[in-house]
Amino acid sequence: MPATVVVGLQWGDEGKGGVVDIYAEKADMVVRFQGGNNAGHTVMVGDQIFALHLIPSGILREKTCVIGNGVVVDPKALIEEMEGLERRGIKVRENLRVSENAHLIMPWHRALDGLQEKALGDKKLGTTLRGIGLAYSDKMARTGIRVGDMLEQGTFRAKLAAALQQKNAIIEKVYGEKPLSVDEIYDAYRGYAEIIKPMVVDGAVLINQALAAGKHVLFEGAQGALLDIDFGTYPFCTSSNPLAGAACVGAGVSPKAISDIIGVAKAYTTRVGEGPFPTECAEEQVGAMRIKGREFGTTTGRPRRIGWFDAVVVRRAVLLSGVERMAITHPDVLDDLEDIPVCVRYKCGGETVELFPNSLEKLARCQPVYEQLKGWKQDTSQARRLEDLPPNARRYLKRLEELTGAKICLIRVGPRRDQTILVS
Ligand code: IMP
Repeated sequence: MPATVVVGLQWGDEGKGGVVDIYAEKADMVVRFQGGNNAGHTVMVGDQIFALHLIPSGILREKTCVIGNGVVVDPKALIEEMEGLERRGIKVRENLRVSENAHLIMPWHRALDGLQEKALGDKKLGTTLRGIGLAYSDKMARTGIRVGDMLEQGTFRAKLAAALQQKNAIIEKVYGEKPLSVDEIYDAYRGYAEIIKPMVVDGAVLINQALAAGKHVLFEGAQGALLDIDFGTYPFCTSSNPLAGAACVGAGVSPKAISDIIGVAKAYTTRVGEGPFPTECAEEQVGAMRIKGREFGTTTGRPRRIGWFDAVVVRRAVLLSGVERMAITHPDVLDDLEDIPVCVRYKCGGETVELFPNSLEKLARCQPVYEQLKGWKQDTSQARRLEDLPPNARRYLKRLEELTGAKICLIRVGPRRDQTILVS
């Protein structure tokens, strides 16, 4: 029963969608286990580009796809995404299943995400404004509403009214905004329930049955380790655990079921939203990389912040998820550079820092220490085997392996499926 988890090793946007899409070819089932529609997984099929937010990338390969209990589901966004894919000829309803235990993102979560961010002013977190953190807060506070609740005609309205009474008090009294209407939300969610109902299942049972039958299950992580609620740059992080361990609780499977953990890292680093980023570069240094790497958020369209590869970041992510194999994306974006700095460690006063620190105060005192690697000044987007890469590109990748302790198993040299080098 092979079960592979794919997770991000930086601040998200590592290109996990494309990597999952490659591995999904041989998988039977693809499962999302955390996050929500804050994610944006881009997959190119032929000359068509698909941006997936909530639906696992395996949908494009007609695999059984499961939105696990650990995901927060905005049903409106889910239906829009389903319909958008179906208009483009993708079979969604036949292949998608949604865990009844997944928590719902409600309109007040989205509203409060926006109001909180506005109130924070220049101290804002830079969230995707999708209501993610607010939905997870309610889940942990045991005041959330789950996908299964939405299907219970007899009790759903009462649950919704009770939750909204509390949220409206905050919306009105704290933020001075207009309250939301129970009736409108009830009607809208009843409509969503009708559409989603045929896909709602006990996700954990379905996934465990697949594992027991020897099927290959692929767990698709969203975001990245440095956005983890426990180990990320708190509070500049998301509200879930984008680590391999979360696949177990976010899907309802035993840790013993996981046989392979693949981390995905970009050949440089990007980040969207606020928060520390030690190897960040000035725009004039990396403007060309933004265009070549299409470094704009898939979900929000915001320009991503760009910096050099940071081995201190990736080493910690490798440690946290137990990554042995690593997929590297976007090395082609570095094709034109003369020299490429790679951060090998930080200096913090007299101390050498090898692993990303938990304390942002300490991090603020850290200075990246760079090694200059020779660029290759050659197009790598046509490479299909490791041997096709110029020697300096191979040296660069080898150095990333040495610095992170993870073996490279796959390299993506462009967005198309064929622009993939399978190493091992
Ligand atoms: P939230 O997840 O919308 O609450 O946003 C919290 C932080 O995580 C913000 O800095 C977002 O930009 C970042 N974030 C959330 N999802 C993603 C993602 O899929 N890729 C990159 N950054 C993300």
